[in-house]
Amino acid sequence: MKKLNAVVLDITVAIIDFLYQGRDYPRFWVLEEIARAPYFAFLSVLHLRESLGLRGPEHLYLMKEHFAQTLNETEHLEYMESRGGSAHWVDRAFARHLVFAYYWINVVYYWLAPVCAYHLSYEVEIHAAETYAKYLALNGPDEKILEILNDELEHSRELQNAMELINV
Ligand SMILES: [Fe+2]
Ligand SMILES: [Fe+2]
Repeated sequence: MKKLNAVVLDITVAIIDFLYQGRDYPRFWVLEEIARAPYFAFLSVLHLRESLGLRGPEHLYLMKEHFAQTLNETEHLEYMESRGGSAHWVDRAFARHLVFAYYWINVVYYWLAPVCAYHLSYEVEIHAAETYAKYLALNGPDEKILEILNDELEHSRELQNAMELINV
């Protein structure tokens, strides 16, 4: 499953990179729009599990982590919006159709195979950090992008912890 995650992610990223050549902020906005959907999906499934009386010992920790991640990702999204990333309706339409599908895929995936779902988001976060690192290497210092890059690395560490927590 982890290999499939990596292949699907590589193909999706290659398509987005091709479509958004030379348009960094719209590309970042699309990536941020998509990258936060899994956290919404994780929270939805955790809420459902709680409603069904399936609250495990790690439940509160995961709820807090994923809620904080949704807020942080929305801050990233707002920053990309402030830089014109969502100015064109084509980009908004593209991202919102993609995110609609990706959210529901993550709901099912997290319900059935939470470690694999976390692993997919872990790969997405690592990819996001690499994307911002490449941007900084090509465009010079940018404090805000560096801050976002570090947030993505922190998310990847949190996902790694979550994987270890539920995989015992
Ligand atoms: Fe982000
Ligand atoms: Fe992130």
